[in-house]
Amino acid sequence: MHDDGMRDRTETQAFFAERAARWDSRFGDDLPAYTAAIATAPPPPGGTAIDVGCGTGRALPVLRDAVGPTGTVLGLDITPEMLAVAATRATAARALLALADASQLPLPTATADVIFAAGLVNHLPDPAAGLAELARVTRAGGTLILFHPIGRAALAARHGHALRPGEPLAEGPLRALTAATGWTLTAYEDGERRFLATARRVSATAPPRER
Ligand SMILES: C[S@@+](CC[C@H](N)C(=O)[O-])C[C@H]1O[C@@H](n2cnc3c(N)ncnc32)[C@H](O)[C@@H]1O
Repeated sequence: MHDDGMRDRTETQAFFAERAARWDSRFGDDLPAYTAAIATAPPPPGGTAIDVGCGTGRALPVLRDAVGPTGTVLGLDITPEMLAVAATRATAARALLALADASQLPLPTATADVIFAAGLVNHLPDPAAGLAELARVTRAGGTLILFHPIGRAALAARHGHALRPGEPLAEGPLRALTAATGWTLTAYEDGERRFLATARRVSATAPPRER
């Protein structure tokens, strides 16, 4: 791990590989919170919903329920062991899984109606690059849902540290980051019980450069 608390790609994969088998027994109780989070900005029936950093695929059934039988659900993750655990759930939800890095997605531009990313952004070495890539694959007017089933302060305490100033998910930095990467922040909640931020894709073209 680096001084700033970030892991590189290999370290991130190793970190989650070791936890994949126990992930659901440890965090399975959170499922109603995922359902409630997606209900705040559900993908349209027949639409395309992508769970980036899908882990064991806990959100895939909820996304399938939202898009209905004619929609498309994808689960993407950088850790093969997480995807292996997700496989049964993905089959039941008729979701496709792929090994992919959020900063370089193997998807065409303007594919998604909704991107759901739970617990992802804190693990990206370059959050701006990740959010820009999520914007690239989202249709104009599409939605980004950033979620965690506990708030930032509780999560930091769980990890044994205080909140760091300027963290990408703090409201000010996230507002600036989303604006710089093709999104408009539309809602922000960082309570004890959940972190939930939503953003709307403002344009299908690259964000304007600063003059
Ligand atoms: C905290 S876990 C959350 C998993 C799942 N979203 C959930 O809520 O149960 C973070 C997940 O993001 C994945 N991840 C981390 N960095 C990633 C990246 N650059 N691209 C894609 N997935 C990544 C990890 O492998 C892990 O499965």
